[in-house]
Amino acid sequence: MQNRLIIDGAAVPAASGQTFPTLNPATGETLTEVARAGAEDVERAVAAARAAMDKGPWASMDGAARGQLLWKLGERMLAETQALAELETRDSGKTIRDTSGGDVPGAARCFQYFAGWADKIQGDVNPVSGPFLNYTRREPVGVVGAVIPWNFPILMAAWKLGPALAAGNTVVLKPAEQTPLTAIRLGELALEVGFPPGVVNVLPGFGEEAGAALVRHPGVNKIAFTGSTEVGKLIQREAAATLKRVTLELGGKSPNIVFADADLEQAVRGALTGIFYNQGQVCTAGSRLLLERSVHDAFLAKLLDGASKMQPGDPLSPKSRMGPLVSQQQLERVLGYVAKGKAEGARLEVGGERVGDKGYFVPPTVFTGVRNDMTIAREEIFGPVLSVIPFDDVAEATRIANDTIYGLAAAVWTRDIGKAHAVAHAIQAGTVWVNTYMNSQNASPFGGYKQSGVGRELGSSFIEHYTELKSVWVRMG
Ligand code: NAI
Ligand code: MG
Repeated sequence: MQNRLIIDGAAVPAASGQTFPTLNPATGETLTEVARAGAEDVERAVAAARAAMDKGPWASMDGAARGQLLWKLGERMLAETQALAELETRDSGKTIRDTSGGDVPGAARCFQYFAGWADKIQGDVNPVSGPFLNYTRREPVGVVGAVIPWNFPILMAAWKLGPALAAGNTVVLKPAEQTPLTAIRLGELALEVGFPPGVVNVLPGFGEEAGAALVRHPGVNKIAFTGSTEVGKLIQREAAATLKRVTLELGGKSPNIVFADADLEQAVRGALTGIFYNQGQVCTAGSRLLLERSVHDAFLAKLLDGASKMQPGDPLSPKSRMGPLVSQQQLERVLGYVAKGKAEGARLEVGGERVGDKGYFVPPTVFTGVRNDMTIAREEIFGPVLSVIPFDDVAEATRIANDTIYGLAAAVWTRDIGKAHAVAHAIQAGTVWVNTYMNSQNASPFGGYKQSGVGRELGSSFIEHYTELKSVWVRMG
């Protein structure tokens, strides 16, 4: 059988022998069966990761050699871009345009970015008093349990594996149950390019089974999680029992603020990308569009025109800009929020109904007349649903923007450079875009304020989260 677990350098069935289906969201049909990891498999994978951490080739490998393996993995992925992209599209419903042009090459470049870091993780010599030499070492945290979501499956795998491996850790990766296939393939490719057994383990399975067992396991030193705020909180509580290190990338309700003096054409494009890219299944989605009242109507007309041209279609067609939502459950969630928006008095301008009866397609959906205390302005919908909220001045825009439990991202559109920076500083969010939306590159740190997360990924900030800092004292004479 294909689609097995990757444990200790081998593809193996689950100890229980169980499998689970993964679906194609464009059709709702079963794509294939996948081995279903349980607690016993977590036991085996953590033991393998521990052993690889403590002895064997990985433990004695220097940073340059780790970097070469990471670089090769990136190269191997680039060579297989089309196949990986098709696999990702079939399993997740993401468009082939995005997977082949964004996710897969982006994941490969993430490995290559971290390849460059692997031999540049260094300590300091500290200016202590007395006849002592004091220096610090950056040592790997140990075994990292990585739990990732379904909205960017291969990219999130790279965001977790890249930094963890660059810093010398070993990893047990649990992909989302909706989208396990590219993570398994990535595990196979890691073995093919020469990562030693036990360094990269992949456990497809369910959150409450494999995920929870990983979070509880005393042999796991750190959990790196991306997903819902609800599960993030659960993980932080569970991890407290063994004081694991935890980094969390969680939800958002990001404000996209358009001032009247902005380049409105550009801002419309930014607003469309901000909420409809990946069917709105993006943690940084610009789901609250804050419009200065004087341009509200003119902007809205352009926005609705743009939205009407973005109908979802077959994700395998290179022409499609939007695909289906990932699952029946997500479809129901999103339509549930549409119903709530209507019930609470927001005006549905466009969209809001499922397209067809096969697959989980929802078109661009826009609500106007939204108040920031409505459910559709407060909760993460994770679908192509935009809430438009008018405002009158900078102070009001900033107040509404920050009136949320989240703090992942925000954008400001204006030609006034002073206003742009002032608002960028005033907003409580881990990323602020000015006259652009959704940019993300490996060199720039990513993460959330408030209930959007703990810690930062990418950039140099990974060093803090994937290493322990050791202080060494030496008496001189
Ligand atoms: P989720 O948070 O349940 O799933 C994310 C990952 O966590 C998956 O791998 C899942 O198997 C795992 N998981 C679930 N329960 C776990 C547990 N008790 N212990 C350990 N691991 C566990 O998200 P779900 O249910 O797929 O989506 C629900 C909502 O969450 C979405 O509608 C969206 O609002 C939000 N979400 C946010 C994401 C983000 O990037 N911020 C990504 C995915 C979902
Ligand atoms: Mg699937």
